[in-house]
Amino acid sequence: MADINLQEIQDLLISVAHEAGRMMLTATPSHLDSGTKKNSADLVTETDRAVEKMVSTRLLTPYPTFSFIGEETYVPGKTHLTTAPTFIVDPVDGTTNFVHAFPAFCISLGFTIDKVPTIGVIYNPFLDELYTGIKGQGAFLTRNGGEKERLPLRKEPEPLVDLSTCLIGAEWGSDRSGDNFELKCKVFRKLAATKENGGAMVHSLRCMGSAALNIAYVAAGQQDVFWEGGCWAWDVAAGWCILIEAGGIMASGNPGDWEPEVDGRKYLAVRGAPKGQKQIVEEMWGVIGDGRMDYQS
Ligand code: IPD
Repeated sequence: MADINLQEIQDLLISVAHEAGRMMLTATPSHLDSGTKKNSADLVTETDRAVEKMVSTRLLTPYPTFSFIGEETYVPGKTHLTTAPTFIVDPVDGTTNFVHAFPAFCISLGFTIDKVPTIGVIYNPFLDELYTGIKGQGAFLTRNGGEKERLPLRKEPEPLVDLSTCLIGAEWGSDRSGDNFELKCKVFRKLAATKENGGAMVHSLRCMGSAALNIAYVAAGQQDVFWEGGCWAWDVAAGWCILIEAGGIMASGNPGDWEPEVDGRKYLAVRGAPKGQKQIVEEMWGVIGDGRMDYQS
């Protein structure tokens, strides 16, 4: 793949992200014109579909031989991530926030080669925050069109001590019953509870509503950990590249797997730190205990 110009592709992704941002900001989504997919907590709007159409056209016209996986055109059981150069796109990550005008939604544009996250571009148009990364070339945040800041934002990130000093991103997702839901409730409770009550008593939990932004915040060092099961490759592929380039690590959201698949649907991201990343992963896995999340790819 030596002939693939990663910088050129990233430049295109950034231009596409800005166009998508303009589409999001001029749209007027509401509960009334949005539809649902799996259930009433799994929303999709006209904008999700229109942005994905624009993105696939703009990416596949210059790169017709590359694969494309998008949230809105994914076909269960048929669309699979392969080793081919692949664009992995969530046109609007944080659709529920978008519908409510809660300012945490973005476009997430990932690019994989051999299933490895190689380029990531995440853009929150509401805050004009652009997160970018290319494998081996670092990760950056550009705010309000200003200077690129290298991630993590702190030049010398603090060591990680234990979960009790961590700010943790975690999400309910759209499944609100069943074993996965019960496990999430148990883990949320255990993370929050005092040590006397068998908990980890973390600083706090955040449910931001966008997996891509959650991972970007971990890359930036503004959140220490992100744990989720149920989200998809298009929610995480871009953030994954940015996270690794910022010194973070990605383990599985289920205990025991240090090398999760991009489309494995169970993720545990830990920020860059000179010490303690592995301990944090092990401590999180200890909180999960014998439970296992089960999501089909
Ligand atoms: C969702 C968001 C949410 C996460 C869900 C995702 P969408 O993506 O990332 O934070 O909990 O698992 O599906 O539907 O807004 O693109």
